[in-house]
Amino acid sequence: MSGEQLSLFGPPPPPAAGSGGDGQGPDQGGGGGGDPGGADGSSGQDPAEPLPGQVPLFDGSVAARDVRTLLEALGAEAARCRACGLRNTCRGVVFGEGDPESGIILVGEAPGAVEDELGRPFVGPAGQLLDRILLAVGFRREQVYITNTVLCRPPGNRVPSPEEVAACRAWLDRRLAIMKPYIMVCLGASAARAVLGRDLRITRDRGRWQSLGPMKVMPTFHPAALLRDPSKKRAVWEDMKAVRAEWERLRAGGPPESEGRTA
Ligand code: URA
Repeated sequence: MSGEQLSLFGPPPPPAAGSGGDGQGPDQGGGGGGDPGGADGSSGQDPAEPLPGQVPLFDGSVAARDVRTLLEALGAEAARCRACGLRNTCRGVVFGEGDPESGIILVGEAPGAVEDELGRPFVGPAGQLLDRILLAVGFRREQVYITNTVLCRPPGNRVPSPEEVAACRAWLDRRLAIMKPYIMVCLGASAARAVLGRDLRITRDRGRWQSLGPMKVMPTFHPAALLRDPSKKRAVWEDMKAVRAEWERLRAGGPPESEGRTA
């Protein structure tokens, strides 16, 4: 493992007092050292600043309010969902969070223990690494929308069954219809398969743009996989740089990038 791989995405945050882990990334290795792929490792742009020449994605505060109001109502509806058995064993529905008008949505597999406890997606160890990955390409976590293909924690963090994924699919599709993101990042094979509906292999297919309707979909490794195997950070770094570049291009009204693998 090279020092460069170790240092990608910056040092790990200090352990949160009493945090129990999400069960999906037991190895919390990785990180440490310098930060060549840190918050200013991409365009050097302050993520809070609008990009030069940008056209606002959603023009007009009424439409913006509508998106948030519709999402809020949908979240309340999802909180009552009993479409599968998972709600019987979890604490609650982890709907999603972030900026629904950013044009970008990140989708993981399912909430883990910490997410179930806090009712927020990606807030355990894998989520903390995801935050650093996002920062490395110039996104603060609250600037993107984050959710999972399954909104309730499966017992013991097992992989959700195809039936559970199918039962939960409408919550994703209905949000996509409201938010109309132009880019989706699928975190891990389980999310990519669930979203794209085909037997995709993440090692083979990561880094290649896929399509879902008008949306461009980038499959990449799950952050928990990076915790177990930090050598995968390089690939995720390449994938996320491509995501950021494409997001900037589409947001500025430019043509989509031609297809091909990131690296
Ligand atoms: N892993 C996921 O896939 N989703 C989360 O929200 C947390 C860990």
